[in-house]
Amino acid sequence: MKNCLICQTNIDVFMDFGQQPIANGFVTNEQFNDEYFFHMQTAFCPKCTMVQLIEQPDREKMFHENYAFFSSTSNYMVKHFAAFVDDMTARQNLGENSFAVEIGCNDGILSQNFVKAGVPHLGVEPSKNVAEIARQKGINVTTEFFDKALAEATSEEYKKADAIFSANVMCHIPYMHSVFEGIKILLDENGIFAFEDPYLGDIIQKTSFDQIYDEHVFFFSAHSVSYLANMHGLELFDIAPQITHGGSMRYYITHKDAKPLSQNVSKQLEFEKSLGLHEGKTFTAFNAKIDKIKSDLIALLQKLHNEGKKVVAYGATSKSTTTANYFGITPQLIEFVSDTTPIKQGKYTPGMHIPVVSQETFAASKPDYVLLFAWNHAKEIMENEAAFMKSCGAKWIMYIPKVEIIEV
Ligand code: SAH
Ligand code: TYD
Repeated sequence: MKNCLICQTNIDVFMDFGQQPIANGFVTNEQFNDEYFFHMQTAFCPKCTMVQLIEQPDREKMFHENYAFFSSTSNYMVKHFAAFVDDMTARQNLGENSFAVEIGCNDGILSQNFVKAGVPHLGVEPSKNVAEIARQKGINVTTEFFDKALAEATSEEYKKADAIFSANVMCHIPYMHSVFEGIKILLDENGIFAFEDPYLGDIIQKTSFDQIYDEHVFFFSAHSVSYLANMHGLELFDIAPQITHGGSMRYYITHKDAKPLSQNVSKQLEFEKSLGLHEGKTFTAFNAKIDKIKSDLIALLQKLHNEGKKVVAYGATSKSTTTANYFGITPQLIEFVSDTTPIKQGKYTPGMHIPVVSQETFAASKPDYVLLFAWNHAKEIMENEAAFMKSCGAKWIMYIPKVEIIEV
């Protein structure tokens, strides 16, 4: 029996993924024998409704100078984050007298818009290699982990923030109370803290179980975020669904009573009740759906292997580390994974050791089937690869929300 990271209530495991490697820990063949594994289990808290990992590896094992996730690999995401900054600029009238902070700025995909608009800012990014790329874009970056101590130091060195942004980072941080105490200190009395992360409602509706991996310690909903904000004298006052990362939610938070409460919040809370996100039994049903995807996908890959088909994969995502390791997808079933990120190429996927190759190698191959590990970028990737797929008569294999073959 473990305690909830948010409210300390006893929580029960609803899903056990067994031993899993570091999701972004791509390895060379010399490293095959000393890979780090941890026991990956998820639990639901019946009191504050937070869905969470029971155990998370130490943060330095995941976020460091060789971090393999570079945000700017998707052109769609570049546009998405420009629109996020536009939205907050309109809400907060951001300009040369404002102060904006981004928690987890990675290679500067979002914060580059502050440079363009002349908004004084600070990007917080502990992974030194991606932080360096952000710096080269003219972004002011500190290579620290955001927490209460960093918030105190930042508000002393600069000033209180009119806007604090974060995307796909909050869900990575287990010491969430320290983060929210930091937000309380750093946020101006009329400031907005807006963050977005993969949304529990989409994960349940689409059975996107592969959002569960070492870095994702929390799976947020309006219910759980509202509970958490209240614990710190803050308030969830607006909410906006996003289509990114297979379905995300943007949460807008202020000091209590600082902004009018939008009806979007109460509507979302009602919707979540209709999905059962406040009840443990919903997560037991989710398990059964994962097992169905697992047996369907493995049966398909095995059949194609027996028929001698050439099957490769596209996008060496962190998500696919869970899919490959939990399902047992070996290099016998998938010949290679294509990925545009140079740091991943020439290495092997965590745990299952499928070779990662460049997009050029993919384009020179003649696959029969391509398993789309980066299913969240399906539109962008399918458009970009349509001509190539047609030229070799290849078909896509999707597995979220269910296993299906897509003819091009
Ligand atoms: N915001 C980007 C990057 C998301 S990846 C995007 O949406 O594409 C998660 C990032 O959070 C990594 O770059 C990681 O180094 C960073 N990170 C992890 N813990 C953090 C913390 N406590 N404070 C700030 N950044 C953190
Ligand atoms: P993504 O799904 O964004 O994230 P996560 O690692 O959090 O699951 O990762 C997308 C991966 O796919 C990334 O390694 C880059 C790669 N990619 C391509 O190879 N080609 C593309 O056209 C796109 C959009 C991504």
